Amino acid sequence: MDINLKCADCKKSYDPYIVRYSCECGGTLDVEHDLESLRKLDLKKIFEERWRSRQKPYDSGVWRYKELIFPVPDEFIVSKPEGNTNLYDAGKAGKYAGLKNFLLKHEGENPTCSFKDRGMTCGMTAARRMGAKIVACASTGNTSASMAAYAATAGMLSIIFIPEGKIAYGKLTQALAYGGKTLQIRGDFDDAMTLVQEVCGKLNIYLLNSINPYRIEGQKAIGFEILQQLNWEVPDWFILPGGNLGNNTALSKGLIELYELGIIAKKPRIAVIQASGANPLFLMWKNKTPYKRVPHADTIATAIKIGNPVSWKKSYRGIEWSNGVVEQVTDQEIMDAKAWVDAAGIGAEPASCATVAGAKKLVEAGVINPDEKVVGILTGHLLKDPDATSNYHKSSLGDIGIASRFANAPVQIEPTLEAVRRQIGTLL
Ligand code: F0G
Repeated sequence: MDINLKCADCKKSYDPYIVRYSCECGGTLDVEHDLESLRKLDLKKIFEERWRSRQKPYDSGVWRYKELIFPVPDEFIVSKPEGNTNLYDAGKAGKYAGLKNFLLKHEGENPTCSFKDRGMTCGMTAARRMGAKIVACASTGNTSASMAAYAATAGMLSIIFIPEGKIAYGKLTQALAYGGKTLQIRGDFDDAMTLVQEVCGKLNIYLLNSINPYRIEGQKAIGFEILQQLNWEVPDWFILPGGNLGNNTALSKGLIELYELGIIAKKPRIAVIQASGANPLFLMWKNKTPYKRVPHADTIATAIKIGNPVSWKKSYRGIEWSNGVVEQVTDQEIMDAKAWVDAAGIGAEPASCATVAGAKKLVEAGVINPDEKVVGILTGHLLKDPDATSNYHKSSLGDIGIASRFANAPVQIEPTLEAVRRQIGTLL
């Protein structure tokens, strides 16, 4: 059983163990699995036997699915472990979205508090397999936090390219703390992405953005784990935010493979939600026009502030396969939805909450039926971006046009029993 690297456009094949991130034709690459051989295994049984295993590497919610992710000798694997995240009933956030059967998969419960750890364990394992000593990425914050932590675990040097300003506090803090060499470039994420590709190509540094096909393989495990948590019953919809579009590429690729292997018999529909200030996939899908980058992307959800996503084509492939949709939501809609995700006791960073804002919009538009079973992916932890959250609750986002409709503002009181009684009285 082995793998192959294959161009998503012209289908040319490459040696999977020689470093390469794109095809000669410029297309992006897929890791191709030997589905013929995999069909001979009872994969569902194998995955079920490993469920809640204490044995490495199968205690990881990524490596539990090793055969379908990266069949590499165990000695190369860099795992913390990751995955095994909760699938919550959406509670108040479900009511807000108008859905009766809404589950939220909280990927903020990964070791560095975002879904990136799933792709990173696989990407860092590939780095080790290729003999890399230095790794790099461009990032809006979460990829860099994850890469710095996994590089520290693997004993590698990590170099991080982040856009100037507007990187969430929690993420920058993590990158610095885990020891990543952090280069804040004068430009936006799209500029950082262009630069890191040039740097990695010329300086023999291993690139760990999601253009790296092994990152995509690890990220597929989000979908696998959700299905396993649902006893392999396929929901009607998956909803997730879209930025650089690696996550949707991964989710859909994994689902396509499960479908082709006969592990699932139904195709779920996928909805990708973009911020309206960073919406190239939405514009392409909605207007049926050729792909065009969005210059100067802007949104409060800094994680998805991306105007030229590297994986747009492979992401679009997944939308088409699943008869999916692409929706856009405003910053106001993102922050209001976030207030409900947080108030449900679940909590997530702004970009994650585009998922719930998008669900609400699609229900209101009649695209999703309120009775359908929907799984939304929350990609990052509430504490990744404490400023956005506290500013919303303190009604301090007016200067960027966001009203705090569901604010839970702190109240200042005198230190007396009477003052406390007055405040509690308003709640009883
Ligand atoms: N949600 C969060 C919290 C993210 O950090 C990202 C991407 C996304 C959603 C979008 O996922 O890019 O696969 O479509 N963050 C990247 C980063 C770009 O650098 O951390 P995508």
